Amino acid sequence: MRALFVTSEAVPLIKTGGLADVSGALPGALREIGIDCRMLLPGYPQVLAAVTDLTPVAELTGLPRGFTAQLLQGTSPKSGTPLYVLDAPAAYQRPGGPYQDLHGQDHPDNAWRFALLSKAAAILASPASPLEWRPEVLHCNDWQSGLAPAYLNFMGAAVPSLMTVHNLAYQGIFPPDMLHDLDLPAWCFDVEGVEYYGNLSFLKAGLFYADRLTTVSPSYAQEIQHEPLGMGMQGLLATRKDRLTGILNGIDAAEWNPSSDLFLNAEYSQRAPSGKKKCKRALQKEMGLTEKADAPLFGLIARMTHQKGLDLVLSVADGLIARGAQLVMLGTGDKAIEHAVRDMALRYPGQAACFIGYDEALSHRIEAGSDLFLMPSRFEPCGLNQMYSLRYGAVPIVHATGGLRDTVREGVTGFVFAEPTAHSLWLAVERALTRYADATAWKAMMRAGMAEDFSWEHSAKGYAALYREALERR
Ligand code: ADP
Ligand code: GLC
Repeated sequence: MRALFVTSEAVPLIKTGGLADVSGALPGALREIGIDCRMLLPGYPQVLAAVTDLTPVAELTGLPRGFTAQLLQGTSPKSGTPLYVLDAPAAYQRPGGPYQDLHGQDHPDNAWRFALLSKAAAILASPASPLEWRPEVLHCNDWQSGLAPAYLNFMGAAVPSLMTVHNLAYQGIFPPDMLHDLDLPAWCFDVEGVEYYGNLSFLKAGLFYADRLTTVSPSYAQEIQHEPLGMGMQGLLATRKDRLTGILNGIDAAEWNPSSDLFLNAEYSQRAPSGKKKCKRALQKEMGLTEKADAPLFGLIARMTHQKGLDLVLSVADGLIARGAQLVMLGTGDKAIEHAVRDMALRYPGQAACFIGYDEALSHRIEAGSDLFLMPSRFEPCGLNQMYSLRYGAVPIVHATGGLRDTVREGVTGFVFAEPTAHSLWLAVERALTRYADATAWKAMMRAGMAEDFSWEHSAKGYAALYREALERR
């Protein structure tokens, strides 16, 4: 079976969040179980620089605004996944990240940039494709490729499409007068189409036109059929619930393995855990914390947005410090949250520290050096950091939502709290500190977490089964 996986970010090429981790691993896992999965990505400068074997294979015409782009083919550096790169310099070759400029402002022409990606995907899945290789399934991810199922449909839908929601909070909403510019027929601006509360939504288009819908955990698949986590899409999702499946993400077990992680100061494993102590001391030193072996060290790594609940952490920070704990935070995002985190760290020199920015190596060292990991997200479609934490023996404290609920077991592998409030979080922190004080019980908990299996193989089989079903239904 042949599948085209369309995404706007993928490690090790370009990353802003978990979508990149998934795109970096899932296509490879699908290939391992016999699916010829190839990936389509925009030709950002980072991608053009990192993929060394790119060669032009076709010219794509008929893109929005009458645009023409080169299609390049190459191989993803680590996984060896075959890549198609949409080389459209006017759309993608500019400073900044995939969605924002250097000042953190959305690129003003994002609608057009990702309509290009979506239309290119639809063309490659249709008889109009200039390539000999033709997918049997088109797999789209998040709003950036949400228009692809719509375009494919308008072109006569040669193959079934699958839409994976990684985060319903990002809906790709643009003014309705863009319809023409994006080559969308006027009649599709309808409740039964791409219209969403008077605007155009790329995500809504995908949810409406795709044959199959998936999201990244079973709990989130349920939650999004209702308010508030349906975020306006709950009606559509509930009517399509027989087409909606939650498949839990895996983690890249080679990339996130404390016994072979090159970013760490010492290696360790479930059987030989002693290296973790060295990692903790090294992290305390690196972050300017007092080098105390027995101080419970809490780690946190997150995009600094309202979703991630950092304000809850800040509300319990005084209490944590008063109990002799230490706190290390890594992240970047909303300026107000960044400031509040920085202020908190300044109040407690030697006990709290933060790094505002993006730092992959440090993220590995925080997982390895922390005793506990905080993830109080208000909602979390899947979440990867709690799974990395389990693997690294940093016992997670999580809010019972989405993938957090599906991966952490209260009192067994971590601590789960019911309400996204400072009080509920604090009660979980107290449970955790009590357990931490009992060295034997603590070791057992760390071991239980480290023994959990979150490999991609299982998830890949889930997607493969859906591909088959979607094909058969045709
Ligand atoms: P989301 O995709 O919502 O951001 P996930 O938990 O699924 O949440 O994935 C986040 C990914 O991004 C993880 O791999 C995490 O380690 C990484 N990450 C987030 N912020 C940073 C940062 N500031 N520095 C390094 N890695 C980060
Ligand atoms: C999104 C979600 C996160 C999920 C990731 C990968 O960014 O916020 O929960 O793990 O996508 O699917």
